Amino acid sequence: MTPPLTFRRGSADDAEALALLAAQTFLETYRDFEEVQDNTDYVAKHFRVPAVAALLADPQATTLLAASGAELAGYAVLRAGSTPSCVTGEKPLQLERFYLAEAAIGRGEGTRLLRAVQAEARRLGALTLWLGVYHRNARAIRFYEARGFCQIGERDFPFGGRIFVDPVYAIAVDEIRFPEPTGRSRES
Ligand SMILES: CC(C)(COP(=O)(O)OP(=O)(O)OC[C@H]1O[C@@H](n2cnc3c(N)ncnc32)[C@H](O)[C@@H]1OP(=O)(O)O)[C@@H](O)C(=O)NCCC(=O)NCCS
Repeated sequence: MTPPLTFRRGSADDAEALALLAAQTFLETYRDFEEVQDNTDYVAKHFRVPAVAALLADPQATTLLAASGAELAGYAVLRAGSTPSCVTGEKPLQLERFYLAEAAIGRGEGTRLLRAVQAEARRLGALTLWLGVYHRNARAIRFYEARGFCQIGERDFPFGGRIFVDPVYAIAVDEIRFPEPTGRSRES
């Protein structure tokens, strides 16, 4: 049986490994949706080692890493700072990134990563968690909705020379639900 992932906060030493994982997970997630070139341009801009090192050093951002032994298998980024006007909950924190490597999906690790996010959000004093999600990312939307996130509005997301309108979801940190698995993902 595959052992469960372990979670920890990222640091400067993780920049190279996280850059690789962030690029891999982005390309895996969106390869069926958008132009390959737009995806690789986005990866080149956001997930080169210097950009990821800057993220890890950013005082407004907290990066959680999910690891299988020494190997990274997922990550989440929590960001304080500006919020879209539709986010009206108290003490908001953005779940800016939330990704597992393909091999780690479908075994409950997303749920465990979200528990780690909830604990970190509490530690940071946040009361509201919000996120924007690509409207065609049905698996992620299903995941968030099953955990109690509600759509509260939309935001513009520039990507590949176009503006995408992403649904914005939010939830009170203490109200995140952790339902029992249905087994649906294992069948697909
Ligand atoms: C979003 C994401 C992190 C969620 O992770 P996940 O592995 O799909 O979700 P879960 O943790 O709920 O696990 C899924 C399945 O694992 C199975 N599972 C096995 N053991 C389990 C356990 N102990 N607990 C929960 N689920 C378990 C279940 O079948 C469950 O599906 P179900 O809830 O329909 O029954 C993941 O899909 C992902 O990384 N997607 C690509 C990146 C992405 O889209 N990110 C969002 C950007 S906004």
